[in-house]
Amino acid sequence: MSLSDPASRIAAWQAQAGRHDLPWQRTHDPYRIWLSEIMLQQTQAATVIPYYERFLGRFPDVRTLADAPLDAVLQAWAGLGYYARARNLHRCAQVLRDDHGGQFPDSAVALAELPGIGRSTAAAIAAFAHEERTPILDGNVRRVLTRYLALEGDPTSARTMQTLWRHAQAWLDAAPASLNMRAYTQGQMDLGATVCTRGTPDCDRCPLAPDCAARLQGLQNVLPTPRVRREQPRHHCWLLIAECQDHIWLQRRPDAGIWGGLWAPPIFPDRAALEAACVPLDGPVQNLAAIEHVFTHFRLLLQPVRLRLAGPPPKFLALSAMPAQHPKPGASRRGANPAIIPPDAGLSSWISIDTLADTGMPAPIARLLLSLYERTVRSSG
Ligand code: ADE
Repeated sequence: MSLSDPASRIAAWQAQAGRHDLPWQRTHDPYRIWLSEIMLQQTQAATVIPYYERFLGRFPDVRTLADAPLDAVLQAWAGLGYYARARNLHRCAQVLRDDHGGQFPDSAVALAELPGIGRSTAAAIAAFAHEERTPILDGNVRRVLTRYLALEGDPTSARTMQTLWRHAQAWLDAAPASLNMRAYTQGQMDLGATVCTRGTPDCDRCPLAPDCAARLQGLQNVLPTPRVRREQPRHHCWLLIAECQDHIWLQRRPDAGIWGGLWAPPIFPDRAALEAACVPLDGPVQNLAAIEHVFTHFRLLLQPVRLRLAGPPPKFLALSAMPAQHPKPGASRRGANPAIIPPDAGLSSWISIDTLADTGMPAPIARLLLSLYERTVRSSG
């Protein structure tokens, strides 16, 4: 194994020091591998494991997933975040059922044609399922390569990405035909996640240390060059928790925008809009403690207001303030509050508090409602 063959060094290191007990390593089933790779895209392995096991319990194969209602899929996903992944997962299962006889195509090129599967994810699935010899370039590998080559500048720029893909391919080309693609692919991920970490890389444990350009130049702690982050905008919104005889009013969020497809109480841009919606309603109003939720590009401060309606639940709530928030056609959404998107008509309903725990809600809202109604939820069983 020579210095000119980093791939073999990574594969050998993986066999000795990598992770071997992750649940998706016990299978070559592309369905299970695909699911793990999608869940792992923005989420760490330790967080993913319980979701992965539960999801497979509910949706053990492509057909079960394709035939399930999107709501059930989103509910199983709730808490993992980045819900577009769950919607794509469902769509992808339907494409596989309808156009591929319920089977995954073998090659990375064909996998990358499917919804939600990018080039690197396709390569990882093909490597783990069939030992296909194709390079990956996820966030971890990007960091390892950027340091190994001591590349400065934004590692996600189109130009740098091109350079990184070229080197990822060159590493494969330099390795012998006997390279174990499963160990190599997993090894790159393990190296990035456990040794060549973002904060303080542990170069003493790294198989690439002898010829890593960043380490040789003492740059391992400053590369990759951090992206210049603009100050994150902070948006405010008001949440109406309308409650009536052990039910609360929830709306299904539109697919576009944050929390697409999940259920949440009506959201308003300000107190005046919330109050306007409450004018025809009768009952005591109570401000609850505000909650802040951090997204990748902004922070959202949610001010919940609880309204307890007297009498039987009305068939619907006419929340007239919402349509005014529709962006004008062609208007820029830049700087707009991403939480303020009116719900689709007809997708609103009184939901029993007893069934809240089974309703697909965004994690911060589920936490708020479940803590608010803890006694009721617990007593339901
Ligand atoms: N991140 C992305 N894919 C992974 C995998 N297969 N194992 C651990 N972490 C990962």
